[in-house]
Amino acid sequence: MKLTILGGGGFRVPLVYGALLGDRGEGRVTEVVLHDLDAGRLSAVTRVLAEQAAQAVDAPTVTATTDLDEALRGADFVFSAIRVGGLEGRANDERVALAEGVLGQETVGAGGIAYGLRTVPVAVDIAQRVARLAPDAWVINFTNPAGLVTEAMSRHLGDRVIGICDSPVGLGRRIARVLGGNPKEAWIDYVGLNHLGWVRGLHIAGRDELPRLLADPDLLGSFEEGKLFGVDWLQSLGAIPNEYLHYYYFNREAVRAYQQAEKTRGAFLRDQQAHFYEEMRDPDAHALAAWDRTRAEREATYMAENRETAGAGERDADDLSGGYEKVALALMRAIARDERTTLILNVRNQGTLSVLDTDAVIEVPCLVDANGAHPVSVAPLPDHATGLVCAVKAVEREVLSAAESGSRTTAVKAFALHPLVDSVNVARRLVEGYKAAHPGLAYLK
Ligand code: G6P
Ligand code: MN
Repeated sequence: MKLTILGGGGFRVPLVYGALLGDRGEGRVTEVVLHDLDAGRLSAVTRVLAEQAAQAVDAPTVTATTDLDEALRGADFVFSAIRVGGLEGRANDERVALAEGVLGQETVGAGGIAYGLRTVPVAVDIAQRVARLAPDAWVINFTNPAGLVTEAMSRHLGDRVIGICDSPVGLGRRIARVLGGNPKEAWIDYVGLNHLGWVRGLHIAGRDELPRLLADPDLLGSFEEGKLFGVDWLQSLGAIPNEYLHYYYFNREAVRAYQQAEKTRGAFLRDQQAHFYEEMRDPDAHALAAWDRTRAEREATYMAENRETAGAGERDADDLSGGYEKVALALMRAIARDERTTLILNVRNQGTLSVLDTDAVIEVPCLVDANGAHPVSVAPLPDHATGLVCAVKAVEREVLSAAESGSRTTAVKAFALHPLVDSVNVARRLVEGYKAAHPGLAYLK
């Protein structure tokens, strides 16, 4: 079984490889091909993987290449985790937005639109190459903004591209844990778009336990989302939102905190990761140890500004490992070996949410087997959530259309229609600012 990782020089690749090392079953991945545009990053990550493999038996072989077509040929699975424009691009997404007083987060608001506009053309090119060179491959998309990018790729790959994210899994795990249940045995009633979903119920042994949590302020205030959103607001909503909804519900505070921060998240990661890749140029460096230290710091500071505005304190130790590599592995196992399971994934709607069309990619629990991911039926969203989901999906569609036509006017429309961009004039200036900051947006005319 051959797995090709696009963005193979990326910092989180060792997480995926670590998950593969723990898989001893028949039909597991035996061959990993890393693809990246940057040979230096590839060699740094290859060193970390080699140290991981040295501690294991029968580790999958690892090869690295900067030739995309060569990497794709013969792949059974393609894992896409690229970052168009690098972390410098992410920092610029934040800077330009914050200067206009709006959010520049990589997946939410103006920053997510800018990142989407430069990522979609690259993702579409990859999808077309996969369709040509590895038509039977399954593509697992982790590239953010994951819902939008998955939808762009699905126009060329249909249901063979599946988007993943670890935040709904983490959320379900935290809720099950505070309720004293086993996360593996819980049924999580979650739906929305990527980074824009709500848990409306959590069933253990056939009973919805969420009302018990919502009725108990102590329990509700004891975990990440309770601290972030506050007990009162969760009780008002009657649901537990994905952590990324903090950027919507507490937008003003989040924008101010990011404006005041010494460094934005993107700028922090740009410098932190540059340091790691620099360290890897020393042939005597302990690659795995340096990587692990950097990873721990990254995880501990995740959404730090949001937590600070809410007075939420440090992250729980249990929350420090995101676990997206586990989602990716479970998905590959289910497909390759028909090990049927349920995972929250980004797939085409196919009638699941009646307010969206069939091809809209949504985030929803899916049954996964050798035939792919099948969304399960869920109860409709409440009106407030439907409003946000429809507004953001409409923005995503404008991004896809701007990426296809190269129309700057359509790009302005995408920014202007976003609920977190408060003026058409701001949208116009954002397009100017982003075009000046990103060579990858030169196609917008
Ligand atoms: C969460 C999100 C991912 C994101 C990751 C890392 O797991 O679901 O989409 O890539 O956090 O965020 P960071 O700010 O550390 O890059
Ligand atoms: Mn995510």
